[in-house]
Amino acid sequence: MTARDTQVQGIFNRITTSYDRVNSLMTLGRHAAWCREVAQRAGVGPGGRVLDIATGTGEIALALRRREPRAEVAGVDFSEKMLETARTKPGADAITWEFADAHSLRFDDESFDAVTHGYLLRNVSDVPRVLAEQVRVLRPGGRVVVLETAPPRGALRLAISAGMSVVLPLLGQVVAGDRRAYDYLKDSTLGFIQPARVAELMREAGFVDVGYESKYLGTNVILWGRKPGS
Ligand SMILES: C[S@@+](CC[C@H](N)C(=O)[O-])C[C@H]1O[C@@H](n2cnc3c(N)ncnc32)[C@H](O)[C@@H]1O
Repeated sequence: MTARDTQVQGIFNRITTSYDRVNSLMTLGRHAAWCREVAQRAGVGPGGRVLDIATGTGEIALALRRREPRAEVAGVDFSEKMLETARTKPGADAITWEFADAHSLRFDDESFDAVTHGYLLRNVSDVPRVLAEQVRVLRPGGRVVVLETAPPRGALRLAISAGMSVVLPLLGQVVAGDRRAYDYLKDSTLGFIQPARVAELMREAGFVDVGYESKYLGTNVILWGRKPGS
């Protein structure tokens, strides 16, 4: 792991207890619906295997399992604190939770029918490598579904940037008592690449049929793709 990865890991270990509350406030409750949409787009059937990377407090993994109770769901993250919280949630017993760095997964080649992740890519030091790992562990024809933030653009860019610059650190201060950690979340969101570029990187990694849909005034996005083959 690079020094930056270690710093990011430390931030997520610090904000675990406030994460779900701040996330829900920041997205005005939309996060839960986006997790359901990610699960639906992953399209895993009975007996299928799905990997949720950067599972955090487990919301996407739990949505996957609720959508298909006969699927085998694994949730991985490099924050032990986040995983601790995920393990306490209703329904968590049916999911395998484990530590993993998204840059080097321990899973065999072609071992999953789908891979999902929420708010992973803007946090990693090497996006192409993280995407290449996902292509590797997916079976041919397997799907990837990605939830990400997107830097605001267009007419509302200044207003949204200013709003986020005030609201996120303030929520961090009030809800978590940790303004600096939420400063990082604001900076990583505003400094991230646009969805069109993420889609390009997904194609360069080897995914086909890549598409995306913007959410919430373009500040969030769901992207999807497929590993070639069947
Ligand atoms: C903003 S949280 C998102 C959690 C969850 N996916 C969601 O949608 O609410 C980002 C998560 O990514 C994890 N993460 C960041 N970089 C990672 C890496 N290189 N390997 C594994 N997990 C990572 C963090 O520990 C954190 O739990």
